[in-house]
Amino acid sequence: MSEPAVAAKPAVSPYNRNQPYSAKLKENRGLNQKGSSKDTRHISIELGSHGPTYVCGDSLGVLPRNPDGLVQEFLEKLGLAGDASLKETVASTLILNRAGKKFVKAVAEKAHGPARDKLQSICADEKKLDEYVFDRDVVDVLLDAPGTKFDPAEIPNLLNKIAPRLYSIASSPDHEAGHVHLTVAVVQYTTHGRPKQGLASGYLARLAAQNSVPVYVQPTRHFHLPPPDRDIIMVGPGTGIAPFRAFLQHRQKHGHSGRNWLFFGDQHAATDFLYGDEFNAAQKTGRLHKLSTAFSRDQAAKIYVQHRMQEEGAELWKWLEKGAYFYVCGDAKRMAKDVHAALVEIAARHGGKTPEQAEEYVSVTLAKTEKRYLKDVY
Ligand SMILES: Cc1cc2nc3c(=O)[nH]c(=O)nc-3n(C[C@H](O)[C@H](O)[C@H](O)COP(=O)(O)OP(=O)(O)OC[C@H]3O[C@@H](n4cnc5c(N)ncnc54)[C@H](O)[C@@H]3O)c2cc1C
Ligand SMILES: NC(=O)c1ccc[n+]([C@@H]2O[C@H](COP(=O)([O-])OP(=O)(O)OC[C@H]3O[C@@H](n4cnc5c(N)ncnc54)[C@H](OP(=O)(O)O)[C@@H]3O)[C@@H](O)[C@H]2O)c1
Repeated sequence: MSEPAVAAKPAVSPYNRNQPYSAKLKENRGLNQKGSSKDTRHISIELGSHGPTYVCGDSLGVLPRNPDGLVQEFLEKLGLAGDASLKETVASTLILNRAGKKFVKAVAEKAHGPARDKLQSICADEKKLDEYVFDRDVVDVLLDAPGTKFDPAEIPNLLNKIAPRLYSIASSPDHEAGHVHLTVAVVQYTTHGRPKQGLASGYLARLAAQNSVPVYVQPTRHFHLPPPDRDIIMVGPGTGIAPFRAFLQHRQKHGHSGRNWLFFGDQHAATDFLYGDEFNAAQKTGRLHKLSTAFSRDQAAKIYVQHRMQEEGAELWKWLEKGAYFYVCGDAKRMAKDVHAALVEIAARHGGKTPEQAEEYVSVTLAKTEKRYLKDVY
């Protein structure tokens, strides 16, 4: 029952987080319809014939930059906006959208009058400091302490360093040669009267065609497609859909005979069915054998992917008994745990197991022994 997942690995890439490849943005379009509360973007990046290569299941590492406006605002507040070298260092290497404790403590030291008293009392209490930094960026902190000045050389040591972000690849390498697609949920919120954006998701959302973007491929260790004749069940709500779009493209391109079953969920069918046209078309042509959707906010009570799994429990169990691989991608904190619990319940109800046997079957037999319960969760 446990054939290894197909892992056609390319040669080791010369590109990595310390030495990224300078790729070009090809396309950046919204996937949500008007009226949605979300902004999820389809990002296509040109890797060309010399860039990194990938297989389905890999992730793309992106090295983001801060928005020019935020860099300018920060340096103006410090009276350092004229320093071009510092401007570039700040833009490309230092985190501005989330204030760190070291920065707040340094500002508290330099502040004067009531601002100094306020910030110093916050810094003296770890819990208050946690709360203070949780929803502030560096400009929010400087607005609390007007007139703060630092020596330009001090700045790089006061702010946390930018680290790359990973995005699950949403295309098959054979779909459009030399290109990679991503599905990116833009993190955005307003706190202390100022709009904020996630560092990397905001960076990607701002990119226009032909802009360069530093990237590298982070190969997956385990999230591979199975042998071509095996069935797959894919659970990918929200941006969790990304690797499954890649899987479906790949299986279609190469004529894999295994059946494909997709569970997708998001807020509203009318505005948030990411790549809905593609999946509906794939179902019509028979490439996608089953499509189960859970639109959480189209009715009074929430409906999630795990509820659809339970409704289809008998059929899902039959697929598993025939050797199907079970994949889950997306939110690790809540969704993946609930999907795991639903899978255990299905094994108990439809597999005639006690709760303990069902847990053992899912967590040990499926996941570890047969390696056909695979997760890409974050
Ligand atoms: C293997 C892997 C695959 C991934 N695949 C994808 C993918 O396919 N698509 C995708 O979109 N993401 C994916 N991610 C997540 C992605 O890497 C980033 O973490 C995500 O885009 C957020 O990064 P950011 O730089 O935009 O936000 P950051 O600048 O890191 O900010 C995010 C932080 O902002 C804070 N925040 C958010 N809302 C609020 C609020 N209202 N008030 C105060 N603070 C708030 C939270 O603390 C949150 O942690 C993946 C992650 C991993 C590890
Ligand atoms: N670990 C994390 O912190 C994390 C992980 C993933 C995404 N996010 C953030 O969330 C935002 C949107 O992400 P996304 O577009 O990928 O979608 P998402 O927020 O994960 O939501 C996709 C769908 O999953 C539903 N959902 C919520 N809780 C669930 C649960 N316990 N089980 C199953 N489904 C559940 C949502 O319903 P409702 O919203 O109606 O409840 C929605 O219909 C982004 O800003 C992203 O950065 C954070």
